[in-house]
Amino acid sequence: MIGSGGREHALLLGLDRDPSVTQLHAAPGNAGTAALATNHSVDVASADAVVALAREIDADLVVIGPEVPLVLGVADALREAGFDTFGPSAAAAQIEGSKAFAKDVMAAAGVRTARAEIVDNPADLDAALDRFGPTWVVKDDGLAAGKGVVVTSDRDAARAHAADCLEHGHPVLLESFLDGPEVSLFCLVDGETVVPLLPAQDHKRVGDGDAGPNTGGMGAYTPLPWLPQSMVDRIVDEVCEPVAAELVRRGTPFSGLLYAGLAIGSDGPAVVEFNCRFGDPETQAVLELLESPLGEALAATARGTLADLPPLRWHDGAAVVVVLAAENYPGRPRTGDAITGATAEGVLHAGTAVSADGRIVSSGGRVLSVVGRGADLASARAQAYERLAGVRLPGAHFRTDIGKAAEDGLISI
Ligand code: GLY
Repeated sequence: MIGSGGREHALLLGLDRDPSVTQLHAAPGNAGTAALATNHSVDVASADAVVALAREIDADLVVIGPEVPLVLGVADALREAGFDTFGPSAAAAQIEGSKAFAKDVMAAAGVRTARAEIVDNPADLDAALDRFGPTWVVKDDGLAAGKGVVVTSDRDAARAHAADCLEHGHPVLLESFLDGPEVSLFCLVDGETVVPLLPAQDHKRVGDGDAGPNTGGMGAYTPLPWLPQSMVDRIVDEVCEPVAAELVRRGTPFSGLLYAGLAIGSDGPAVVEFNCRFGDPETQAVLELLESPLGEALAATARGTLADLPPLRWHDGAAVVVVLAAENYPGRPRTGDAITGATAEGVLHAGTAVSADGRIVSSGGRVLSVVGRGADLASARAQAYERLAGVRLPGAHFRTDIGKAAEDGLISI
């Protein structure tokens, strides 16, 4: 397993439950993955280092969690070296790495998405901003761990974010605002074969009631009681399959996890973004309900035999994940604080490390994610928050309303 976030910890837990999996390794991993796998201190952005580790441990399957190594071609290098690898080539990972590329693929595939303009010259910015609003969506056209997107009705704030990206040499994408509740649909994709997982909803803003700046994600739940199966089928038919087919047509087939972030408006699903990997924290909730062996599903995708995989089986009920973030996240987080309760059941690690004196300490912005499962959303929420109450991290914050609007029946399409 390549990566060190909550998503990778959840993937390792899923692999650990698969009886066909005999040994787990994580690179670099975190304090939580160390309990399940052997952690290896490796620069995951270095294809040479990752290939060397795969050789050293004689890996049967390499699963790449984060987008950065994928965009840098680590999956290509592993495949060239003969390793079965879960994760797309650098060319196919452009679906996340370049928002302009994703728009081009969607246009060719006839997929609904927001109207967009790229601005790469500060002199063009004001006129371009005038063509959007009253809600501005400004995206950094590069990898920004979910924090490169500003959605605001304040033109000055939109302008400031765009100017900041341009100053750092990144083009910006201005988009029309897509109305409607958001859905994350993860699909295993092997060429033109698309197998959807359960739909989930992320909570991207830092504060309760969707207040404050965007983050990498503060919590998620699955399944979505307000989303009928017919809409999931439409997302697969109208979005995921056409995009997978278009990537095959271009000679850059996708192999791995295609994450469609969508808004469900009155005209149906429209794409907010694609990612080329599992989402965080939705993965922690989705895999909690997966009954089928995860290793078998990932290996079938990597080996090009996804079409032969038996239909995925899911546990009944619901799962909720709540992220515990360090003080000041999504700004520069405070790190190095000792965490109490970090080894309890349902507590997944992201920004954690083991200190020289053997304590588990915070080492990043999103520190832990706590998962609850129950017969319905209310009981899954109750378990997640009960487990979270047993965790202590000085200065930490979390949202108290993950899945609440859905539980209260306040979301409709
Ligand atoms: N859930 C947001 C992301 O993984 O990018």
